[in-house]
Amino acid sequence: MIVGVVLAAGNSTRFGTLKQEALIGGVSVMDRALDTAIKMCDRVILVHNGGGLLRPDVIAVEGGDTRSQSVRAALDFIDAPYGEFDQVHDIIVVHDAARCLATPIVWSRVIRAVEDDAICAVPTIPISDTIRHRAGAPADRDQFWIVQTPQAFRAATLFELHEDEPECSDDAGLLTLGVTFVPGDPSNIKITHPGDLAIAAGLLRSM
Ligand code: CTP
Ligand code: MG
Repeated sequence: MIVGVVLAAGNSTRFGTLKQEALIGGVSVMDRALDTAIKMCDRVILVHNGGGLLRPDVIAVEGGDTRSQSVRAALDFIDAPYGEFDQVHDIIVVHDAARCLATPIVWSRVIRAVEDDAICAVPTIPISDTIRHRAGAPADRDQFWIVQTPQAFRAATLFELHEDEPECSDDAGLLTLGVTFVPGDPSNIKITHPGDLAIAAGLLRSM
């Protein structure tokens, strides 16, 4: 089974108001992310923060104070003994609701990679800007990827990664080696600041 975990329990501090409820082309950021997740997965778990209108076509669980804790709220649900989930063999795809423009193509790339035996697959794009270390030294951008979600995992791998309750801004970041990179999509932006909404609306019109 392919289980989608859509994370929408954040506080949107940088955005200013709850970005998951913001509308793009008349549909909320959260609903856009869920609509694609539902197309691509057998079950979808929405991790939410109690607000907003919940939907009957997803399983809703309440998130935690950090993104990693919100992921673990979904894993706790999957781990429940009465559940229909197989915590060893399922594929779990973790996705930020804030990346509401992620296309089915990107979803299927990460899912296919894990079906083909990867333990973890993430979408990546190259950096086009010049970058420096904050300490001052210049850095070679060709040594880096920008990493997006959705990120797919063999379920057992994701459970192992979260065993000691680590904190990280994404889940693949908990894994040093063994990550399979697939092409991401420059349009798969993460709504973070208020101005991103207009950018996303423009991208949507061109998709
Ligand atoms: N998220 C979550 N639970 C948290 C924190 C974040 O489910 N405790 C989710 C967000 O809702 C978002 C995704 O993880 O879809 C990526 O996080 P980010 O873009 O940082 O969103 P926020 O944490 O809400 O924003 P900010 O960091 O500006 O407060
Ligand atoms: Mg955050």
